[in-house]
Amino acid sequence: MTEELWTNVDRQICDRLLPADAALDAALDASEAGGLPPISVTANQGKFMELLARLTGARQILEIGTLGGYSTIWLARALPREGRLVTLEANPHYAEIAVANIARAGLSEAVEMRVGPALETLPPLIAEQAVFDLIFIDADKRNYPGYFELSLELSRPGTLIVADNMVRDGAILDSDVRGREDEDVKGIRRLYELLAAEPRVNADVTAIQTVGSKGHDGFALALVR
Ligand code: SAH
Ligand code: DHB
Ligand code: MG
Repeated sequence: MTEELWTNVDRQICDRLLPADAALDAALDASEAGGLPPISVTANQGKFMELLARLTGARQILEIGTLGGYSTIWLARALPREGRLVTLEANPHYAEIAVANIARAGLSEAVEMRVGPALETLPPLIAEQAVFDLIFIDADKRNYPGYFELSLELSRPGTLIVADNMVRDGAILDSDVRGREDEDVKGIRRLYELLAAEPRVNADVTAIQTVGSKGHDGFALALVR
């Protein structure tokens, strides 16, 4: 009942505020046809990500966890002409579908796909001395602590780090038994500890819970000092 209500409200928000978009719809259709799990950001969350990228004036964006490239398309659309987005995906089948979806959206020039476990594809970016203005962490939750530490190495003062799925239906609560053995929940809990302890972000960090067609979840925002 409650989740149905959240879903109906999400649908109405998207119907009222977000025009039909052929490239984004095609990306979701191709992802479903390719057997990808339906875990992309929602359309209203995607628009929120685009707005964050524009608000921060991001020219260099890093995304950890591409899936079918749905959030990638939203973020890449915020880039100025010379901007670029690097997106990291472990699953080659997902990456292939994402590359096609990104091409259909006319964003191939701006987007670079790197395939492999992100804990292995992030260090080369550090070696290349890449610096990003906005970093979206959305891959496997058990590795969020590592992604955050490596993201700091790819940041400058003013970089915005966004982490998705920071609530997980309340499983992050200290009192919730799911956090005792679930490696993904443990990873998210550990990220809260790191965000609170890390002097480069702990003065400017928050997390917001969300409800909607993806249930009860949330995201964290951290501004690097
Ligand atoms: N950002 C996407 C959703 C990402 S879902 C969107 O909103 O549209 C999480 C993705 O992380 C999945 O595609 C999964 O294959 C990928 N992933 C899981 N483990 C990974 C790893 N170790 N390195 C990189 N990507 C990983
Ligand atoms: C899952 C991953 C996500 O990034 C998300 O937004 C929702 C669910 C998952 O792995 O279940
Ligand atoms: Mg997510």
